[in-house]
Amino acid sequence: MTHILHRQIGHDYPVAASGQGILIRDANGKDYIDASGGAAVSCLGHSHPDVTAAMKAQLGNLEYAHTSFFTTQAAEDLADDLVAHAPDCIDHVLFVSGGSEAIEAALKLARQYFVERGEPERKYVIARRQSYHGVTLGALAVGGREWQRKPFKPLLIETHHVSPVYEYRERRTDEAPRDYAERLAQELEAKINELGGRNVIAFVAETVVGATMGAVCPVPGYFKRVREICDRHGILLILDEVMCGMGRTGTLHACEQEDVTPDLMTIAKGMGGGFAPIGALLIGEEIFAAIADGSGAFQHGHTYMAHPLACAAALEVQRVIRRDDLLANVRRQGAHLARRLGERFGNHAFVGDVRGRGLFHGIELVLDRSTKEPFDPKLKMHARVKREAMARGLMVYPMGGTVDGARGDHVLIAPPFIVDAGEIDAIVERLGEAIDAATAAVA
Ligand SMILES: Cc1ncc(COP(=O)(O)O)c(C=O)c1O
Repeated sequence: MTHILHRQIGHDYPVAASGQGILIRDANGKDYIDASGGAAVSCLGHSHPDVTAAMKAQLGNLEYAHTSFFTTQAAEDLADDLVAHAPDCIDHVLFVSGGSEAIEAALKLARQYFVERGEPERKYVIARRQSYHGVTLGALAVGGREWQRKPFKPLLIETHHVSPVYEYRERRTDEAPRDYAERLAQELEAKINELGGRNVIAFVAETVVGATMGAVCPVPGYFKRVREICDRHGILLILDEVMCGMGRTGTLHACEQEDVTPDLMTIAKGMGGGFAPIGALLIGEEIFAAIADGSGAFQHGHTYMAHPLACAAALEVQRVIRRDDLLANVRRQGAHLARRLGERFGNHAFVGDVRGRGLFHGIELVLDRSTKEPFDPKLKMHARVKREAMARGLMVYPMGGTVDGARGDHVLIAPPFIVDAGEIDAIVERLGEAIDAATAAVA
């Protein structure tokens, strides 16, 4: 009997015993291809020798120093590295231990920025439905996954949600992508006007939506219009790249492909590649300057922020990605993955949409391709696919509630950046078998 409060009580989890490259081996000796990097985390695969060596070296010198007493070379070097490769306006970094903590810090820093500038009336955050920003109370409040927020609603800060970009279902057939982007931009502006532009702190969005909808990309021009609207009202743009960032979509930051720069950006998963828990808030110069010239301190701090071991791991992860030119591999193998998914699922009776960028792809499952009708949520099709995939030694990241938080199923595929074409072929083959087996009962 386990004493852990596992994610699903009563579920029989295999024991992960070791990992090498894109494989995880369980205690019974069964291998699983890690085709989702867990939850888009393991960008270098498992047990990368350079990263484990860097961590051992750090441990040999110092395991921990509290940030109210010291800085460390590992943290300073990582901050320099992140700023050097960030959008131009970013000049400082706050280190935390994961994605939710990064979002909490973003919300609080955004609010403190306006308090210090003498605009304390700004109190609303606008975000998007069908988004995921984490599970802590602030992150849950801005997140747009209704079923997850519902039990905790009385505890959540007031947040307002607008439509996500969801081209597959919500762009009208008579509407060009640019017109769809404009419609969404106008909805955002109408919400800002309803709340009063001077009462809004920030607009928060995932550049490419991950967990809730499965690699849903923005339409061209959308984020440019969002940026213009935020600027016009003096509202901060917070991009959440915890999942889609740090190379996952083929550029270090997903927003590079949108040609926009945020005021604040959260990163985590691929930043440390799973070698240690770490996340960060990338901070625009104007925001930093307002605090530096004002109170002189961000009113926020965690015991484990800028943990030296995690910083050493993340720095080595980023060095290896550059040294081995892995973003070129993300683009090359991403194109191969898109092609193979298209071939296998483009005409599949129960697949409505295949989408994504780089090594970040989603498949939306439907009962009926022509009407886009989703499966009955009671079938828990996403859980069936996960079970069938695990039985075949494949880890992918299926999720339910794709359409509206209750209906719909998708599968997220996010293999490590070191994946090769043969491994992608194996992933697509096993995934095809898993989806066929899961949907066989309704076929
Ligand atoms: C976009 C996004 N933001 C925030 C988070 C929360 O990160 P964490 O689980 O590390 O707290 C996630 C996690 O999946 C995420 O995908």
